[in-house]
Amino acid sequence: MAAALSHEQKVRLFHDGYIVIKNAVSQHLVDRARARIKAAKRGESLAPAVELTDLVNDSNVTPILTDAMGAFDPPSLVHVGVTKQSGPRDHFTPLGYRDRDLPYFGHGMHAEGLFTTTPPQETLTGSPAERYAKMIGSGPRGDIGRSADVIGTNTYPLFQDPDMTLAVGSFTAFVIVCLNDQMIEGCGQTAVVPGGHRVLEGFYRWQDEQNGNVGPEGPGWPRFDYTAPNGAGHIYLPDAVQEKLIALDPNPPETTPDGKPWPRPTQILMEPGDAAITIFQMPHTGTRNEFGTESRKNMIFRIRNKKRQPDKVVTGVSDHPDRGMMGEWLDYENGNEPFVRSKHALTHMWEEWDGMQDIVAAETPKLEPIRFGDVL
Ligand SMILES: [Fe+2]
Repeated sequence: MAAALSHEQKVRLFHDGYIVIKNAVSQHLVDRARARIKAAKRGESLAPAVELTDLVNDSNVTPILTDAMGAFDPPSLVHVGVTKQSGPRDHFTPLGYRDRDLPYFGHGMHAEGLFTTTPPQETLTGSPAERYAKMIGSGPRGDIGRSADVIGTNTYPLFQDPDMTLAVGSFTAFVIVCLNDQMIEGCGQTAVVPGGHRVLEGFYRWQDEQNGNVGPEGPGWPRFDYTAPNGAGHIYLPDAVQEKLIALDPNPPETTPDGKPWPRPTQILMEPGDAAITIFQMPHTGTRNEFGTESRKNMIFRIRNKKRQPDKVVTGVSDHPDRGMMGEWLDYENGNEPFVRSKHALTHMWEEWDGMQDIVAAETPKLEPIRFGDVL
């Protein structure tokens, strides 16, 4: 098993934004991880389980990612992505639509690093301003008004920086290690839009150029959709991005009952021991596990290139490591502007991929630049 991506694999990673590495993790490590999950006590958190973090720390994933991206902190925690089997259900998802009404196995395509709060299950009424206040006030800190201290029920800050100019947390790469058979669509796979990373990066860059506000509440990206069926859906991807994602696919998109089209995701088909690496900017979603013979088991790691903030240790689960897990403010030395660095990383997505620079230089000129100015 090669401990680095081949040239061809790196070219594919550059263009698609993700790559599946077959057998990146040994059967022994897979078996040990599955046994640990099976042995979990009711209510026990498996996030710090060494049997799970070893899927990266003791496997070929570490040398492969170090070669492609650069140095990173060995994850000490893991996001245990277990999805039980289920059919379509009636609840409202964060998009503000009923699960059963969303196409593509109830997808919730999103940009990573966004504030989310529990979706209202009764249709929210009142003026948009009232609904906005209700939504942002429903997190663990309650109604404290609109500020960067607000965090969502997912613990992600409403804004990363005190000046409220950056509403996206960021890291460098996802690693997704598969622990069960996911070779048939509809088993709860993680799904992505190949090439969508360029669209999202292009949009972040366009926002930054407009007025320096990046993410929801920046140009072209309202935070909530008050026309969604539950009266307040999270806008996880702005319309201009959705349109370009839909255009990447030659097949017509599926719609919700209100006629709204949604970009079609590609399910990442994997077998136990396979690992997917995606760039942070990749739009992605979980899906419903309708056809699996067991719960879907993806171990998800959020990795940041060490050079972004050499003095900070990243655990592997936070999507907003410029702040503490619960939105705490971290200390930075004089001259270190973490939110400026992160905006730069969001808008120059390959700069943190040290081992991809030859490919980036060779392949970028072959691509049409992504532009938004003429669309919005
Ligand atoms: Fe996500």
